[in-house]
Amino acid sequence: MRKRMFLLWMMLGCLLLSGCGEKQPQATEPSLLLGFSQLGSESSWRIGNTRDIEAKAAEYGISLMMENANQKQENQIAALRRFIAYRVDVIAFSPIVEEGWDNVLKEAKQAGIPVVLVDRTIRTESEDLYVCLIGADFYQEGVSAAEYLLRKADALGKDHLNIVEITGTEDSTPMRQRHAGFMDRIAGDDRMRVLESVNGDFLKSRGAECMRYLLEKYGKRIDVIYSHNDEMTMGALPEIEQAGFKPGQDMVIISIDGGQEAIDILREGKINCIVECTPMLGATLMETALALKEGRPVSPETHPVEQVFSDEQDLSALAPRGY
Ligand code: AHR
Repeated sequence: MRKRMFLLWMMLGCLLLSGCGEKQPQATEPSLLLGFSQLGSESSWRIGNTRDIEAKAAEYGISLMMENANQKQENQIAALRRFIAYRVDVIAFSPIVEEGWDNVLKEAKQAGIPVVLVDRTIRTESEDLYVCLIGADFYQEGVSAAEYLLRKADALGKDHLNIVEITGTEDSTPMRQRHAGFMDRIAGDDRMRVLESVNGDFLKSRGAECMRYLLEKYGKRIDVIYSHNDEMTMGALPEIEQAGFKPGQDMVIISIDGGQEAIDILREGKINCIVECTPMLGATLMETALALKEGRPVSPETHPVEQVFSDEQDLSALAPRGY
């Protein structure tokens, strides 16, 4: 019944948009209705992720109800409730933070709607409140960032390096795991000293603010900036230059994501290393949603394969990034 109503609305919409006389392609019933709650539009990574999910839904013939929560958990919870009320076939969402989802997920479970986590994970009372996670291994990204720095310290012959960290959204999975992976990997190396970690919320404007604060406090004592995403890195770079330092030379710059703009800056030499975090999760999400609809098993965790781009490599042949 719900599907018939949906089809009727689509056909009516086509008629109104096109005028009555012209012949239009027949609307076919979508194979599946997927509700997806995106957490916001804080970065080019996030915009690339949204576009990829929309494009892949169209390619797979999946009908997508997409809602953008504008960086607010309460908006995401309200969107999930709307998906439940609409009785979508599958719910997917990218949780802004890890905690506070139990109640709404219990409601989805009671309604018999499977839930897929995209990009980030959550902490719940019981793990059967969601089916699976499709997203990056953020801990490994932190480890890869640290491993680059250890190699760089060897190459520069440094006996000590003062590090400042600009982290992502408080209590989010990438913030927690990128920090933990990095710290675990540099632990025990006496050359490495973290002066301070500050929170930049994955935003360019906050990256600039954090960098101003760090430069005022530590100035030329800063040897390394480890930033949890490209957006904050791009906010920080002009501040470093305005303070009279050359990013990539006077200070080692390590970033995460690998969007086109940051890769171009890496090629210019102002960023030293970017650990890739790919936003292209749409195809895996569509395959997973179809499998769930058809009752086929799905993998509990899927991590995309990711690379490290740095000043150690020739990046001239790197294909356009697409985000
Ligand atoms: O959760 C993925 C992170 O969120 C990306 O690194 C960042 O750019 C985005 O805002």
